[in-house]
Amino acid sequence: MITPPTTSVPMSPQTFDVESLRGEFPILNVLVHGHRLVYLDNAATSQKPRAVIRSEEEYYRTMNANVHRGVHTLSEKATARYEESRESIRKYIGAGSAKEIVFVRGTTEAINLVAATYGKMHVGKGDHVVISGMEHHSNIVPWQMLCGETGALLRVIPLNDRGEVILSEYEKILDGPVKLVAISHISNALGTVNPIREMIASAHRRGIPVLVDGAQAMQHGPVDVRELECDFYAFSGHKMFGPTGIGILFGREALLETMPPYQGGGDMIKSVTFEKTIYNDLPHKFEAGTPNIAGAVALGTATEWLSGLDWTAIGLYEQNLLQYATDALSDMPGVRIIGTAERKAGIVSFVMNDIHPHDIGTILDRDGVAIRTGHHCAQPVMMRYGVPATARASFALYNTASEVDALIAALGRVREVMGI
Ligand code: ALA
Repeated sequence: MITPPTTSVPMSPQTFDVESLRGEFPILNVLVHGHRLVYLDNAATSQKPRAVIRSEEEYYRTMNANVHRGVHTLSEKATARYEESRESIRKYIGAGSAKEIVFVRGTTEAINLVAATYGKMHVGKGDHVVISGMEHHSNIVPWQMLCGETGALLRVIPLNDRGEVILSEYEKILDGPVKLVAISHISNALGTVNPIREMIASAHRRGIPVLVDGAQAMQHGPVDVRELECDFYAFSGHKMFGPTGIGILFGREALLETMPPYQGGGDMIKSVTFEKTIYNDLPHKFEAGTPNIAGAVALGTATEWLSGLDWTAIGLYEQNLLQYATDALSDMPGVRIIGTAERKAGIVSFVMNDIHPHDIGTILDRDGVAIRTGHHCAQPVMMRYGVPATARASFALYNTASEVDALIAALGRVREVMGI
C-alpha cells in the first residue's frame, strides 16, 4: 500500500519485525570492503528473499522443460507452474482475468510493446501522446520513436519546483487531440508519488486511455489495477523482490484483444501456413518464443511472498524511514535534496556541495554503502533541476534507521576526503 506521508511518528517502536524480515535476505550479510553491506540502491533493483531464490532453483531442479509445447510430464509440470504463476500475479494486482497478464522482459519491454501495437494503431499525424517531465527514459523514448514514425506530437506535463506534476497544466494538455497518456506511478529520480488515480480519471473523462509505468511502485506495496482503472500497467520483477529479466504488462482485455501482436514466432500462433497465420488467444498472442519460464515462476512466488506481508505496518515504517533520512540529509551542510514532493516513496536524490555524485558513490562504497549516482535514466529531470547528476539513496522494507546512520557517517567521510 503506498501511504501518504506521516511526518510526526518517531522511528521506534517499530511496527513490524524488520530484523526477522532481513533474515530472509541472504545478501544482506555480505561484506563489502570489510563492512556489512548497506544496500540503498533499491530503486535500481531490490534484493531477493530466500523464497524467490528457492523457487527459481526448484524450477530448474525439478521441472525444467519448455511450456505449452510438450506432452511429457516435465513440460506439463512446467506449463502448469508457469500458468499458476500468472494467476498469482493476476490475483496480486487485482486484474479481472489471467488473459490480461502478459509476461515480458520488464517495464521497458511492456512500454515498447504498447507503443508498437496500440500506439501504431491509434496514434497518427497531428495526434498527441502525453507523458510527464519526470519520466524514466523507458517511458520517453518509445513514445518519441512512435511520434517520429507517425508525425504525432509528444506533450510533456511540466513539474513544479518540488517535483510534482502541475495538474492544471495536465488538464489543459488533455484538451488537445490526445490519444494516450503514459505516466509513472512513482518517479525513480525524485521519489514523487503521482496522483495517478485522479490523472487516470481526468483522462478517462475525455475518453483517453492511460498507461502507468509502475516500475518503482511495486516494491512499496500492492497495486490494484481495477481500483486504479488504468488501461495498461507495466512493471518489472526485479524491482519487487523477484528475478531480473521478467516483468508484466497488464492490459485491459478489451484493448489487448484489438491490438496486433508485438513479435512473431512460436507460441503466439494458432496455425501457420505460408499464406496466412492465425494468432493465438490472449495472453499468448503477445508471448512469442520461449519465455523466461524460471523467472515467471519465481515472480509468481515473489507476489505470493509479498501477499503475506502486513503492508499497513510496512507503509508506515517506510514513510518513517524516508522522513528520518530526509531530516538527517537536510541537516548536513552543503546537501540539497532534489525532489521534495508532498507524497514521496523511499527515494532521496541529492547533491552535496559541488562534489560529483560519482565521487560520493565511490567513497560510500568503501564503507559498504551502495547508492546509485548519475542521471538515473532521467536526463530531463536533471535538466529541469539544473544538475548534471545526483546521488540517490533508495530504501526498501528491509532497510533500517541504523543504515541511514551509516549513510550519513559515510557522507561525513566524503566531506573529509574531499577536504570540505
Ligand atoms: N530504473 C532503475 C533506476 O532508477 C534502473 O535505477
